[in-house]
Amino acid sequence: MKKVFTLMVCALVVTALSCSKKTTAVSDTKKATVTYALNIQPLLESKCAPCHLPAKGGNKTDFSTYEAAKSYVDPMLERVQLAAGTKGFMPMKREALSAEEIALLKKWKEEGLAK
Ligand code: HEC
Repeated sequence: MKKVFTLMVCALVVTALSCSKKTTAVSDTKKATVTYALNIQPLLESKCAPCHLPAKGGNKTDFSTYEAAKSYVDPMLERVQLAAGTKGFMPMKREALSAEEIALLKKWKEEGLAK
């Protein structure tokens, strides 16, 4: 009888151990494919200049830093997706961004706004 009890205790310990192992966090280290330095800064510098870049003589909201781009990503996305020429549309008085350029901004946001 004592032997059966010992076996049961062993079985319980083994079960508990294997269960606790399963709770190991699933690693979430997927690398961002769109970054500010590689994709977003060049996009803003070519399409939102000179108005939003003080270095180029712009006097509108400054989009020349990572922090600024990051905090304005939502209004940027909203405005570049308005119909060209309507109130609030950006880039103002210019051709609309391409679908690829808009997708890039969206992806940057979805992936967590990598620097
Ligand atoms: C020809 C000049 C010009 C260009 C180019 C331009 N903008 Fe603007 N932008 C303005 C002006 C003027 C305003 C202020 C009036 C308004 O809010 O509509 C403004 C305001 C904004 C705002 C609101 C800022 C705030 O402080 O609330 C956002 C967001 C914006 N622009 C995004 C963009 C993006 C993104 C681009 C490039 C893809 C761009 N703009 C290109 C002139 C420009």
